[in-house]
Amino acid sequence: MHNRRIGSATVSAIGLGGMPLSIEGRPDEERAVATIHAALDAGISFIDTAMSYCLNSSETGHNESLIARALAAYAGDISEVLVGTKGGAARGADGSWSFNGDPATLRKACEDSLKRLGGDSIGLYQLHVPDPNVPYADSVGALRDLYDAGKIRAVGISNVNLDQLRDAHAILGERLVSVQNNFSPAVRDSEPQLRLCTELGIAFLPYSPLGGISRAGGLGASHAAFARIAEEHGVSPQQICLAWELAKSPVVVPIPGSSRPTTIRDSAAAADLKLTEAEFAELDAA
Ligand SMILES: NC(=O)c1ccc[n+]([C@@H]2O[C@H](COP(=O)([O-])OP(=O)(O)OC[C@H]3O[C@@H](n4cnc5c(N)ncnc54)[C@H](OP(=O)(O)O)[C@@H]3O)[C@@H](O)[C@H]2O)c1
Repeated sequence: MHNRRIGSATVSAIGLGGMPLSIEGRPDEERAVATIHAALDAGISFIDTAMSYCLNSSETGHNESLIARALAAYAGDISEVLVGTKGGAARGADGSWSFNGDPATLRKACEDSLKRLGGDSIGLYQLHVPDPNVPYADSVGALRDLYDAGKIRAVGISNVNLDQLRDAHAILGERLVSVQNNFSPAVRDSEPQLRLCTELGIAFLPYSPLGGISRAGGLGASHAAFARIAEEHGVSPQQICLAWELAKSPVVVPIPGSSRPTTIRDSAAAADLKLTEAEFAELDAA
């Protein structure tokens, strides 16, 4: 599969978003592991997770532990697989989501994630979301310190506006390798962050890149254009959607979520799909 870069790591152009394997509606363990193995078989070498991908606080880190088990059980070579996790968001006993960017909480969260994922350090550690009750520089500073202490090998940020991206870049310098924001045909308001990432050479990881859809449809008002071009290529609208995102910039690495082998295999194929300039322009304007 066609590759891209996240910092110094070479990764597949399409990653796997782990969230649907651990939240409401998740599959059983057997299908979850089969989905991760299908992704690896298809050449996917970047997996996105978070400590908060679970149902509630009794199983914090469910997704990280699942990914660690699936990788350990995989028969192929996993030495080049990058797992990116996140701290700064959690689920409570009742499943409600909360955010905590306090440096001490982030340090503890990172150490817990490292224990679940295994190894000496975490390949990519992302601040899940800015905490309005903590100065952003303090939360980002905690990740810089974790990097400098050798606990994490690269830093990412998520759910950021342009000012937060600039501030994080000033604090982290080359330690900052990725920005993960909501981006899909239906949600395009992070175009400025995508452009700045392109200028800075920082990976841009569109999350919910299919619009958080399940199965077919859900690409928003522009769905008709994606569906027609998909029909002309004989592929799914989801593949066209991911190919459009890839064509937007060489720093883009979409992370489609999946809860079944069929969908992640289909999404992986988007890495090698070429759109014409006219198709790209039409989708960009749709
Ligand atoms: N940083 C953040 O705050 C944040 C927030 C949300 C998500 N994320 C990350 O982004 C990842 C992706 O987002 P998401 O899971 O919300 O949404 P998504 O990737 O836009 O959509 C996922 C859904 O699309 C379906 N799908 C995937 N590939 C398909 C294909 N080729 N054909 C048809 N259907 C397909 C899957 O169905 P099946 O379930 O049937 O396989 C899955 O339910 C998450 O897993 C998570 O890692 C991050």
